[in-house]
Amino acid sequence: MSEELKLSVLNKLEAEGSIADTKTAFADVSAETILGALKSLESQEKVTYKTLTTEVWTIESEGQEMLENGSYEARIFDAVPAGEQGISVAELSAKYGKVASLGQGTGFKNKWIKKNGSNIVRLVDSIVDQVKIDLETVKATGGHTNNDVIKDLKRRRLIKPNKTFSYAVSKGANFSTEIKKQATDLTVEMLQSGAWKNSEFKKFNFDSLGVSPNGGHLHPLMKVREEFRQIFFEMGFEEMPTNNFVDSSFWNFDALFVPQQHAARDLQDTFFLKDPAVANGLPAFWETVRDVHEKGGYGSIGYRYPWSIEEAKRLVLRTHTTAVSSNVLNKLAQQPYRPAKYFSIDRVYRNEAVDATHLAEFHQVEGVIADKNMSLGSLIAFLDIFFQKMGITNLRFKPTYNPYTEPSMEIFSWHDGFKKWVEIGNSGMFRPEMLRPLGLEEGVQVAGFGLSLERPTMIKYGVDNIRALVGHKVDLGMVQSNPACRLDKKMGKEVFQPTAIETDN
Ligand code: PHE
Repeated sequence: MSEELKLSVLNKLEAEGSIADTKTAFADVSAETILGALKSLESQEKVTYKTLTTEVWTIESEGQEMLENGSYEARIFDAVPAGEQGISVAELSAKYGKVASLGQGTGFKNKWIKKNGSNIVRLVDSIVDQVKIDLETVKATGGHTNNDVIKDLKRRRLIKPNKTFSYAVSKGANFSTEIKKQATDLTVEMLQSGAWKNSEFKKFNFDSLGVSPNGGHLHPLMKVREEFRQIFFEMGFEEMPTNNFVDSSFWNFDALFVPQQHAARDLQDTFFLKDPAVANGLPAFWETVRDVHEKGGYGSIGYRYPWSIEEAKRLVLRTHTTAVSSNVLNKLAQQPYRPAKYFSIDRVYRNEAVDATHLAEFHQVEGVIADKNMSLGSLIAFLDIFFQKMGITNLRFKPTYNPYTEPSMEIFSWHDGFKKWVEIGNSGMFRPEMLRPLGLEEGVQVAGFGLSLERPTMIKYGVDNIRALVGHKVDLGMVQSNPACRLDKKMGKEVFQPTAIETDN
């Protein structure tokens, strides 16, 4: 349709040189449709056009009703039977309501009817419904030659002034009667085939406004992440770079003294990469790592199994951010000794069955503290302060096992809503079998801890299904309308549902 219209505009220009007014040339096409066609032709420089504005009168809804049924006064005249008797005022108003009261007045003025006692009778035999005729004229021509008619119809709110647009069209610089589809981009295929030589390209429109940018909204996970970051910064931590989501098994496991037979290194638990499947190389101290696994050292007898370099080279989606911590601790060890505090908050991946509270990916909040003369007591004291800043007091610790920490402790806090102790994190003192090969000198201890970002976020924002928080089912309205997060203040929304407490570790 629009292609047809464009062609007939071009053909008319070809035949007549110009189009004085599209309103007459294309009487049955709406101004919007014409404008669409002209804009498109103008962008190809086939035509130029000027907008013509015409003042017109259009019919209001009451006028429209009169066009269909006659003016009130004519309808009332018709309702009055000829003869002395006429019709009673009461009956007329019962039958015609508002039309009766308005129509009578004008009927009296026009001397079509008159009152006779409580009745209304005709004064003339027939009438001409001039108002209806005038409205028909206005509808057909947009106005009336008699200005008094316009004034009267306007006063009665039967018509209103309006503007219509039409266009005067001339040939453009690139005029032809043929329309080629214009290319918007120069593509590789066009260059290869040579098609670009005969292509017509769409001009850039530097006047277009572009897509207006939407205000950004932080995802709840990022709000909580920001709160954690501030707590870490407040406590003197440096942020670790976590932009390597793929790492070698070496950094993710071996450097952490996780034996190569450990269950976590199974296909069922870890995502291994197919292509590329292995890391290009390992850091120089890999042999030290091998030795500590095979033979032990630093007071340990090791695991006593043949360590495989191929296994260590296998690339994985990192299963914990401790893979980053081992890397950063190794860098720290290259410099003259200094105590250090590092944190990271980023995504990790586990090949796990997904359910309402678990996905195959989640965020870990992790901190490591390297210092001399540190004990488990130092770690406990630190965790007390750290969690206090989130409004969590009264921690309890339970011994657990991590290949890279000894002792290791699960962190529990009392949950007022659930009325029970809830696991909120994992922690421990890194083993010398991990720290010494990384290059950290004797006497330097490192404490570490980790927790998930999702669990506190779900509790804070009252989300009880992880799929409502992460993934393609997330409601963007939820992201836009959620309040800022304060970890140390109750937000009123926090849910107390058992699903929210399951552990990610
Ligand atoms: N990496 C551990 C986990 O995945 C958390 C942790 C970090 C534990 C540091 C101890 C020390 O759960």
